[in-house]
Amino acid sequence: MSTPRRTFQSTGCGGLILAAANGYVLGHAPEEIRRLELQAKFLELPTRHVLDQISLEKGMKVLDIGTGSGDVAMLAAEYVGSIGQVIGLDRNSDVLVRARARAAHLSQVSFELGSLDGAERFGAFDLVMGRYVACFQEDDVAFLQRAASLVKPGGTVAFIEPAVAATREASQPTVALYDEMWNWVDKGFDAGGARVHMGNRCVQWFAQAGLGEPSLLYEMAIGGPSSSLVEWICLLVQSLAPALERAGLAEVEDFGFENLQTRLQEAVTAANSQIQAPPTVGAWARIGQA
Ligand SMILES: C[S@@+](CC[C@H](N)C(=O)[O-])C[C@H]1O[C@@H](n2cnc3c(N)ncnc32)[C@H](O)[C@@H]1O
Repeated sequence: MSTPRRTFQSTGCGGLILAAANGYVLGHAPEEIRRLELQAKFLELPTRHVLDQISLEKGMKVLDIGTGSGDVAMLAAEYVGSIGQVIGLDRNSDVLVRARARAAHLSQVSFELGSLDGAERFGAFDLVMGRYVACFQEDDVAFLQRAASLVKPGGTVAFIEPAVAATREASQPTVALYDEMWNWVDKGFDAGGARVHMGNRCVQWFAQAGLGEPSLLYEMAIGGPSSSLVEWICLLVQSLAPALERAGLAEVEDFGFENLQTRLQEAVTAANSQIQAPPTVGAWARIGQA
């Protein structure tokens, strides 16, 4: 008999209710969707830089795997224009409701439920990409190979992944609470089976997938007391709390969610601290020749 699993839903960083989970460590509660959209703002520049380097152009066809609430798909739509096509794929239907509503004005963008298996039904792509999705795959090498197999000759496969292991001492001057939250984040991702350090090993990853040495770009967003990173990390810890609890690593009470964001905001402000987001690595390779 299977035991029902629990996730947390909450009203911001202020209170938690237990609900059912679906295997993906971060879940798709409304607060997690808000976190993704906050995150998309500080990942916009690194993502644009990758798209610029790839020379994504008007009329091209793009697959965004693990699209979430659609930010990467919408960005790609800007590059390919109304004569191009962008398909966003996600295996969660709730988040696609949000993505479809946000991109309703973009006729070149559509969202489909599913993963890479079966994606050949969409034909071949100039660019197959994903952001913060490969780190959640059990077999990231097979995932990359599958993504590359959907690319036209001369096209590109690209992933933008976190390099979280480099974010220890994530605040200067040090804010103990911010650094402690990164500890929870590390442990929570570990407990949930996600490899959020994988941005640090893209060369090995692409080589193992038979794609040769990738082009690489490393960037990191930083901010001060008014940065959205304060709210973002509170929401991240909240999304990971169920994994931490299931692994017996923490109890909800340990986090003090009822005033976590206020405490963190006050501490970062008092220290005039510069706080870091996870470093981000863009890695991409051309497939065959046109
Ligand atoms: C951290 S979110 C990133 C969302 C988006 N790429 C962004 O950067 O805002 C990861 C998303 O990938 C989806 N996902 C994870 N593994 C997937 C898979 N194998 N196929 C399709 N979607 C997947 C999850 O459901 C989740 O919505």
